[in-house]
Amino acid sequence: MLDARKQAERDYPARVDEAGRDWLRSKPFVNSPRETARHLIDFGYVVQLLELHRGVRLCELGCGSGWMTRFAARHGVEAVGYDISPEMIEIAREQAAAEGVAAQFEVGDMEELDLGRTFDACLSYDALHHSSRPDLVIGSAFRALRPDGRLLLAEPNWKHRFQGRLVSSEYGTTELGYSPRRLKQLLRKEGFTDIRRFHNNRKRLFGNRPADVLSHLAEPLVYRALGPFWTQIWLRATAA
Ligand SMILES: C[S@@+](CC[C@H](N)C(=O)[O-])C[C@H]1O[C@@H](n2cnc3c(N)ncnc32)[C@H](O)[C@@H]1O
Repeated sequence: MLDARKQAERDYPARVDEAGRDWLRSKPFVNSPRETARHLIDFGYVVQLLELHRGVRLCELGCGSGWMTRFAARHGVEAVGYDISPEMIEIAREQAAAEGVAAQFEVGDMEELDLGRTFDACLSYDALHHSSRPDLVIGSAFRALRPDGRLLLAEPNWKHRFQGRLVSSEYGTTELGYSPRRLKQLLRKEGFTDIRRFHNNRKRLFGNRPADVLSHLAEPLVYRALGPFWTQIWLRATAA
């Protein structure tokens, strides 16, 4: 039997209202321009950092409604998404069928996945902080990868522990957040090497005004300085 926090993760799509379910179906579209742009830019970074191209085998852990997995499949990737929530997987499959996309989706607990097959790349986007056992999730990712396969984690920072409290108290879902340091330690412990952090400033376009140019020049330094405690965490690691 599942514990209460995992049951809450499974039940989440049934507990949000119809507008919430519509958003799950249409994600990353039909949101504010800023949010949609944020997600689309993030997908671009996933393609780049995992070097996704036609024929690469990708698994996504905690895929939700599967929008990233479906996008990857459109890019020619052999993509499989796993999520603990059967309703999320149902939405993901329905959307894939409606879009004519060959992505696959399976219900699975990312803390204990043993897939019996391996992938070239593994993604966990905005999902790891839904587990209180990130070590187990990272272990699942390691088992899912071929030697030299790559894992990409994209996560809110540790302050999400505080920002996520409202959602957590309303839905019972797990809303944690880990520091880059802790995640790097866990990656090393589970056997990953070549661990690199990337600072995602979402490449804002800049104009010719001096203030725009100045902020463009200062941005990498600002992101680097705030990295340990403020900005999103993007970590890429290789399964040794
Ligand atoms: C914030 S959502 C992000 C979903 C997706 N990556 C996206 O960007 O839309 C977190 C997802 O993690 C899933 N999840 C939570 N615990 C899980 C577990 N133990 N195993 C697999 N998926 C899990 C939830 O069901 C939810 O779909």
